[in-house]
Formats: sequence, structure tokens, C-alpha cells
Amino acid sequence: MVEDVVNPAGEHSGQFGALGLHLADPRVEASVLGVLDRVETELRASVTSADPLVTEAARHLMEAGGKRFRPLLVALGAQFGDPDALHVVPAAVVMELTHLATLYHDDVMDEAAVRRGAPSANSRWANSVAILVGDFLFARAADIAADLGPEAVRLQARTFARLVHGQIAETVGPRDTDPVAHYLHVIAEKTGSLIATSARFGGMFGGASAAHIEALAGYGEIIGVAFQLSDDLLDIASESVQSGKTPGTDLREGVPTLPVLYAMAGDDADAASVRLREILATGPLVDDALHAEALTLLRESPALKRARETVRSYAEEARARLTPLPEGPPRRALESLCDYIADRTS
Ligand code: IPE
Ligand code: IPE
Ligand code: MG
Ligand code: MG
Repeated sequence: MVEDVVNPAGEHSGQFGALGLHLADPRVEASVLGVLDRVETELRASVTSADPLVTEAARHLMEAGGKRFRPLLVALGAQFGDPDALHVVPAAVVMELTHLATLYHDDVMDEAAVRRGAPSANSRWANSVAILVGDFLFARAADIAADLGPEAVRLQARTFARLVHGQIAETVGPRDTDPVAHYLHVIAEKTGSLIATSARFGGMFGGASAAHIEALAGYGEIIGVAFQLSDDLLDIASESVQSGKTPGTDLREGVPTLPVLYAMAGDDADAASVRLREILATGPLVDDALHAEALTLLRESPALKRARETVRSYAEEARARLTPLPEGPPRRALESLCDYIADRTS
């Protein structure tokens, strides 16, 4: 069930409230909470398998937590039509299952030990279990998408293909392209894609107009990039209790995220920035002492500040994409998401 809390202001709010996010209007909040609640029930039912190990391993991360950001986007997109329409909830389930499957696979690739505050599936069981359970979740997503019709199946498949291309581009690295441009391309593909489709699905299955659906998808793509950028900042700036992940994983794996790219390309002459560039130039930081030193230096660096400004500019760009949508509580709810991403700390 969606965690139901009363926040200090006395307003009724739910999971997104626990994120410090407010949706600007009690009726929109109640509607979104209703959708998210039904999504939880269907998500849990969707991963039941005849094999108890598969059920247990598939439920493991689902029950460990997660922000349900993609279902939230579906529920918000549906506000521009009828959020109670039959296919809104299963569309959100398809998006969350697809996301969850990528997390199982991503933790294998990134050798991550912790996810959603719990042991990752690869560390709790084994890489092979994490990979196969990820595949099972993709299969379940496809099965449910089939009930939504061929257009939904095609969109989910193409979105997933974009996501995979993003992960591959990240793995291969920038080759001859500018590293920052490459990185921004990677995150649009690996994260913007699914969040864009989530917002699109909300509009589509809520029955919004074609113009509104396009605006929602455009907004989703950019807010998705901002969301991934903020996640990358958190990998450097947060403690694991906040993020539910191990801080500094990107640095250890040699995934150069925006603050690192800015630090490497910068010409700040202060001793800390010079030392930081020297450490980063050595590649993936497997040495514990060097890793800790780089994290400390990055947390105080001008590069991190610049990256934060980039997150804000994407959040503003996302807000601008909302102009074709009618003014009113649903649009204000999407705007409040921009504020949340710009200042996100968990
Ligand atoms: C993690 O996604 C991977 C990214 C695309 C940043 P989330 O931050 O949405 O992860 P959960 O679902 O809340 O665990
Ligand atoms: C998450 O990517 C997986 C996808 C977006 C497909 P990351 O590796 O950047 O995210 P975290 O930090 O592990 O959640
Ligand atoms: Mg990862
Ligand atoms: Mg990764």
C-alpha cells in the first residue's frame, strides 16, 4: 500500500509527500494517491510466479521501497483527461515493472550492493538470479502492455530499446564526441526515455488531446534528464541513509557523471581543484583512500555547484515545456515537480 502520512502542515499526502513533494492541489493529490494505491496492489500481484524463488526475488526490491516516480508521472499525465480511466493503472504498472527490471540489471552492471536501502538482488542472491528476475519483470511488463493494445506494446518496446542504447553508450564511453554532450545524450536515452513515455501513457490512457499528450511527453523527457542529473549529484552529495544506495558508486565504477566531467574539464587553479583533477585522471577509483578523498573534494568543488545549476536549468526547461497545457491544478502539480527536482536532497 502507498504510505499514507499527514505532513507537518496537516495536509493529507502520500508517498510523494514523504519525498517532500506537494502537488499544489488537494483534489489532484487525492486522485494521484488513489491511482498510486491501485498501482501498488497490481504491482504486487503482477510478479507472482509458480516458482517461489522468482516471486521472492521479484518482490524483493518492489517491497524494499522506491519513489514510484514513473507511476507518479502516469497519474499526473492522466489528470489532463480522466485519471480513473480503465487503463491508467495498468499503464503505470507497465512503466514501473520496466523500470524495476532495469534496476535488477543495472546493479549487476554497476556491481552495486545496495538498492532501495536493501541488499541488491545480485548481492542477496547472485548475478544470474538478478539477470533472470530482471528478464521475468520485462516479460510481465510486456504481458500487461498487451492488454493496453499494440500502440502501448510498440511504445514500451521502443522506449526500452532507447534505454538499452543509453546504457550501452554509457558503457562504451564518448569515443570522439565531447564528454559532456555524450553524457547528456546517455541520460536522455537511459532515463529521459522511460519518464517521457510514463507521462505520455498518462495522457494517452487518460484520454487527453494529441497536443497535450505531446506536451506531456516533451516535459517528461526533460524532467527525466533533470531527475537523473539530480540522482548523479546525490551519488556524490548524499549519505546512503538518504538515497538507499552506496554513495560514490559512480566514481568507483568509473562512470563519469556531470560533476566529475565539469571538474575534469575545469581550469580552477585552487589547490583542491588541482588535486581533484589529478585523482580523477587516474580512472575508476577502486582505492578506498583515493575514493574517499575525491568524494570529499567533489562535495566542496565549484564543479558540483555548476552541475547543480545545470539541474536547475533543466528543471526550468521542463517547466517551459508545459506551456501548451491548460493552466490549473494538474499543470501546477507538474510545475511543483520541477521545484522538487531542482532542490532535491533525497
Ligand atoms: C534510479 O531511479 C535510477 C535512475 C534513473 C536515477 P529512481 O531514483 O526512480 O529509483 P527508485 O525507483 O526510487 O528506487
Ligand atoms: C540506472 O542508472 C539505470 C537506468 C536508468 C537504466 P544508474 O546506474 O545511473 O542509476 P543508479 O544510481 O544505480 O540508481
Ligand atoms: Mg547504477
Ligand atoms: Mg548504471
